[in-house]
Amino acid sequence: MTRILHGVDITRGASFRGVVDFNQRYRLQHVDRNFKSTITTIVPLTDMEKLFQLRIDDDAERATFGFLPGQFVMLEVPGYGEVPISISSSPSNKAYIELCIRRAGTVTNLLHRARPGAKVGLRGPFGTHFPTGQMKGHDVLLIAGGLGLAPLRAPIFDITENRAAYGRVHILYGTKDPSQLLFDYQYETWRRVGGVELSIAVEHADADWKGEVGLITHLLDRLTLDADDTFAIVCGPPVMFKHVCSRLSARGVPMDRMFVSLERRMHCGMGKCYRCNVGHTSTCIDGPVFDYWSVMNLKESI
Ligand SMILES: Cc1cc2nc3c(=O)[nH]c(=O)nc-3n(C[C@H](O)[C@H](O)[C@H](O)COP(=O)(O)OP(=O)(O)OC[C@H]3O[C@@H](n4cnc5c(N)ncnc54)[C@H](O)[C@@H]3O)c2cc1C
Ligand code: FES
Repeated sequence: MTRILHGVDITRGASFRGVVDFNQRYRLQHVDRNFKSTITTIVPLTDMEKLFQLRIDDDAERATFGFLPGQFVMLEVPGYGEVPISISSSPSNKAYIELCIRRAGTVTNLLHRARPGAKVGLRGPFGTHFPTGQMKGHDVLLIAGGLGLAPLRAPIFDITENRAAYGRVHILYGTKDPSQLLFDYQYETWRRVGGVELSIAVEHADADWKGEVGLITHLLDRLTLDADDTFAIVCGPPVMFKHVCSRLSARGVPMDRMFVSLERRMHCGMGKCYRCNVGHTSTCIDGPVFDYWSVMNLKESI
């Protein structure tokens, strides 16, 4: 029987259920550990966001620290608090990890005032990941709005470093205006070296902007898709991924081949405090990456 929610047929794709294992609790045995780390480089990206390169101080800990695209860490500013932040660097990079951080409140503002050499703590990695392994052999659509490019950057690295394993790869990125574009110094590398098609749109152009003007959904509507062979990763504010995912669904992409990252306020990051719960689901361990079918069936998730 067809069931429609927010204009989307949420029964579509149910036959694919069970492919992804979202119960990641068995992975938590090593993560209640704080890795002492140093901020080595800080790159201002926009007025609101900076990219922080962090190096785990202990050589052995650094060598064993690994993560999957879409996972996050709890970043501690000693004496002030911890914040969940998605890892933005390549999973294959063992030398350092990168975090793109928007200043929002107490801890993130302090981080924006930090200098290279500052000591911080890291716990993690936590949470579910984008199933890039499962996407191999298929077309991949990576869609980000605003700060959503931060969590999307790790799967972009993963996919471009293993480019031959995937079919067509498109990145669609949209922001409010050109001053908010993140990682603009990497676009040419993704296009030329990574062999991906990258389309960018801003809602409001300035005098120098020569690219597309409009919403990201306009870029999506123009894209030719092989719906039966496409996986999508969508990162951005809920209002954006709702519109994008319902359009993809209407074009025939199964809901459990679209993946989104949900943001909730978090405290422990490891399923102990229930601060991030949506119904019976802890966003920190059962998410933050969910397929869209699960999101639509999670009450009050968006
Ligand atoms: C899994 C996950 C991954 C994240 N990845 C990133 C990232 O890559 N880069 C980044 O800049 N931010 C990311 N965030 C959001 C980041 O954790 C918050 O901005 C941060 O916790 C704010 O802490 P603060 O002490 O600076 O602000 P606070 O003083 O605690 O709060 C300031 C304002 O931010 C709001 N806020 C706090 N936490 C969240 C949240 N989780 N979601 C939405 N609003 C929030 C508060 O309601 C308040 O209005 C992520 C959040 C989650 C849950
Ligand atoms: S943040 Fe504590 S249970 Fe998720």
